[in-house]
Amino acid sequence: MLPPVLLLLLPFPAPPSVDGHPLYLHLPPSTLQALSAQGTKALQAAQRSAQWAVNRVAMEIQHRLHECRGCANHTAPCPGPARPRPQPQQPAAPGPCGERRPSPVNVTRAHGRIVGGSAAPPGAWPWLVRLQLGGQPLCGGVLVAASWVLTAAHCFAGAQNELLWTVTLAEEPRGEQAEEVPVNRILPHPKFDPRTFHNDLALVQLWTPVSWAGAVRPVCLPQGPREPPAGTACAIAGWGALFEDGPEAEAVREARVPLLSADTCRRALGSELHPSSMLCAGYLAGGIDSCQGDSGGPLTCSEPGPRPREVLYGVTSWGDGCGEPGKPGVYTRVAVFKDWLQEQMSATPSGREPSCRELLAWDPPGEPQADSAPPCAFYSRVCPGPAVACARLAHQQCLQRRRRCELRSLAHTLLGLLRGAQDLLGPSPGMRRLAPGLARPALSLLEPPRHPAREQRLHPGSRAAGARFPKRTPEPREEASGCPGLETLQQKLATLQGAHAWILQVPSEHLAMDFHEVLADLGSKTLSGLFRAWVRAGLGDRHVVFGGLVGLEPATMARSLPRLLVQALHAFRSAALAEAAGPQMGARQSGGPERKGHHPLSPQIPSARGP
Ligand code: ARG
Repeated sequence: MLPPVLLLLLPFPAPPSVDGHPLYLHLPPSTLQALSAQGTKALQAAQRSAQWAVNRVAMEIQHRLHECRGCANHTAPCPGPARPRPQPQQPAAPGPCGERRPSPVNVTRAHGRIVGGSAAPPGAWPWLVRLQLGGQPLCGGVLVAASWVLTAAHCFAGAQNELLWTVTLAEEPRGEQAEEVPVNRILPHPKFDPRTFHNDLALVQLWTPVSWAGAVRPVCLPQGPREPPAGTACAIAGWGALFEDGPEAEAVREARVPLLSADTCRRALGSELHPSSMLCAGYLAGGIDSCQGDSGGPLTCSEPGPRPREVLYGVTSWGDGCGEPGKPGVYTRVAVFKDWLQEQMSATPSGREPSCRELLAWDPPGEPQADSAPPCAFYSRVCPGPAVACARLAHQQCLQRRRRCELRSLAHTLLGLLRGAQDLLGPSPGMRRLAPGLARPALSLLEPPRHPAREQRLHPGSRAAGARFPKRTPEPREEASGCPGLETLQQKLATLQGAHAWILQVPSEHLAMDFHEVLADLGSKTLSGLFRAWVRAGLGDRHVVFGGLVGLEPATMARSLPRLLVQALHAFRSAALAEAAGPQMGARQSGGPERKGHHPLSPQIPSARGP
């Protein structure tokens, strides 16, 4: 039975005190709603992190299997001591570059827009790819070779760690599910200036080359410094926003935009436009443009001939708003970077320092080999001493860098959790209304530096968790035999899946936290101005009750709510674990599952300490 319960609305009056009789206060529905919305975000973040962690190991397993199979077929060196980095198999010839599948729709229509725009027909942009950070699409990119994607350098501002990035193709081979190809290496142009966006270009090396099956093709790169004249109608494509600050496109969009002369660009955009590395394209009347999320995507112009080819002259870089009158979009001039591109793509594997992905996939031999093989060969190149000593030194350096990579990879996992926590603590509109003093915690580590005129939209709106990760079925266990390291990875995967099962098993459409009730004991004010409270919350058909502390004035409340959210997450996890462990473990406890349904709280005195 309920003792006297006061239902008050915010703002709260000073808590009444009645000697000897505790008074209880229900947090009002608006607060519960805001708390629920934040809780749902926290759940989504937790699910994303869990999926990311699981997905990474699943990818490692796939890669390992790929290597082992290659070894069995004698197409790749067998794993074992001094195993060199598996070289990607030479993919089938890509066929002519820049060739588009003839499409029923004529893209030359002038009304096609990315801003507000129309969907591209299938096969229209065979070189278009999407770059994802932690599974979240951030930028476009263009396939220029089987293992190379060209994109904008600013996409990696603040997030240069290749282990976090994956690439998916716009045109998957028919019937195949969009696969995320891990990134092996990110090569931003060494003169990229994040303040001015000068030289906004980066090459991304894929861990495994794409197959030229189906409609997938590389784009053609300009052969020389010459570019088509102003007025040439070129094409842009991407998944970017449909209008400024608008939602992103679900499918690829395309538009025709004319190239503008350097003078026109300069007049329109002022001194921010550096014609040496930037060109602009679009309509001074506005309305048709690329937008946030299109960055890194292609601006191609058709080269006439018996078989017209699309040549990449620009990479989407920045704009002043999207489709604003007088403000054409700005693209990095690909033609002026021809030499740099060639140099990077033709470098030998031992010509540059091994990437973290290469080092993490490397099984170091116990003893350095006389002839240091990849990935360590790089370190012995410049060694002046005798071969044996150099090999030893190279081995040491390789191991050292590998350790740094391991730390980095651990840091990512932590970063993922941190990001989750930031999502958790970041104020939602509801929360802001509730808690004006609750500032967003430390600047996101992934946030790019801001440039006033640059639309950077590096963090497009979060999407339903679960949608971003293609489900990979782990390979059957019998394959483990004869593939060293595979079993450990499979165990790691199983452990991770177990630890995160509580959140991974919730279908994304049910991923909603519902704070049903928060009942504060008005007679229990602590020194820090908080009150003991019982919380009743639900996630799908699971319900938990736990004790915590809540503030009843705006400032103290703002401080206390994030903690309640964390406690709720803990409670759901414990409840799920208890349920999985068997009925005897499911006994009701603080943070444990509520036996049945939606009973309103009967206040008992909860512990004043939260976890
Ligand atoms: N910087 C944006 C991105 O990161 C591209 C903006 C292009 N804007 C424009 N108005 N053309 O996606």
